[in-house]
Amino acid sequence: MATMAGSGYGTIENAALLVDLENKITWLGPDKAIPVEADPEQELDCHQRWITPGLIDCHTHLVYAGNRSDEFEQRLQGISYADIARRGGGIQSTVRSTREADFEMLLDATVQRASILVGEGVTRIEIKSGYGLDLDSERRMLQVARAVSGHLPVKVHTTFLGAHALPLEFSGDPDGYIEHICTSMLPALAADGLIDAVDGFCESIGFSTMEIERLFRRAQQLNLPVKLHAEQLSNQHGAELVARYKGLSADHLEYLDEPGIRAMAAAGTVATLLPGAFYYLNETRLPPIAGLREHAVPMAIATDHNPGTSPVLSLLTCMNMGCVLFGLRPDEALAGVTRHAAKALGVDHLCGTLQPGKLAELAIWNIDQPVDLVYSIGQNPCDSTIQKG
Ligand code: NIG
Ligand code: FE
Repeated sequence: MATMAGSGYGTIENAALLVDLENKITWLGPDKAIPVEADPEQELDCHQRWITPGLIDCHTHLVYAGNRSDEFEQRLQGISYADIARRGGGIQSTVRSTREADFEMLLDATVQRASILVGEGVTRIEIKSGYGLDLDSERRMLQVARAVSGHLPVKVHTTFLGAHALPLEFSGDPDGYIEHICTSMLPALAADGLIDAVDGFCESIGFSTMEIERLFRRAQQLNLPVKLHAEQLSNQHGAELVARYKGLSADHLEYLDEPGIRAMAAAGTVATLLPGAFYYLNETRLPPIAGLREHAVPMAIATDHNPGTSPVLSLLTCMNMGCVLFGLRPDEALAGVTRHAAKALGVDHLCGTLQPGKLAELAIWNIDQPVDLVYSIGQNPCDSTIQKG
């Protein structure tokens, strides 16, 4: 068992784990040491497989309609992501298809995508809105995200990403749109109980730090935690901003600088690395891994699954990319999708490591050692997951 508690893998050989009826871990250790008074109602023999915490994909855009393979082709011909966005493609293209799609169509597509992640050991997923950009469409996206856990053994955390792009109705008026988000969309969707966290896209082709700060202030008034797409294509000092609001995470971070790292370290903000987007955009600027390590900023890894910059549906592949492209150690990669991903969702007291008192959200693997999880691409070593008992 790799408990992922403490440093490294937290390995226990020939391990056993006791779970109560509330799906809480009550004990774990070497099977020879199982307390004598334990008299389990049900036993599951994993037959020498490895057990890890269930994997957590803490940054996805799983709800959308359409695809953007045409843009993939354009980028391969040398047109940049930012240029495609300025020409009305990019996020706007997915907004058009998502607005047209009804609840059932979106739910079908989302459950299909989520089931691929779950089949690779994922037991929790964060899902963002942000392809609706009007109240009804954003609500539909969040309702779809909430509905996913009724169809699959997975827990879903919903994030409101209304500040993803400027909708056409507000063309040339970002202030007006932020105002609309703060006075209408955000409070309404929060009142519907559809928002677990608030996110934005802080970038020259997204929103400025001043605009994002207005959003964060409103989120704070509503007691909602914040996170941010920051320093993906340029350094906008979004990481410092989100750290100032004690944000859960700053995500992407290729252009993060030293003050940003220090601010995140002081605030306990997780650095969520998204190597899938790095890979698909053919980015060459690496996130400052050495600096993040030096300042002990916890690093999570997520798929960032979306139809534009990261159409990847494999968290294991993203762990491999985290190691090969970003230079993470395999144990850092596994911590990035367990312990640190749980922290990025504000649930590290509940899951992310195997420890007494935490939930028994488990993944069971056909591997010889933990590094096998990141070693190969395209083999799925997941035997099964346990979620909700
Ligand atoms: O995380 N950067 C902004 N948001 C997404 C991309 C969304 C899209 O292109 O549709 C991301 O990379
Ligand atoms: Fe994203």
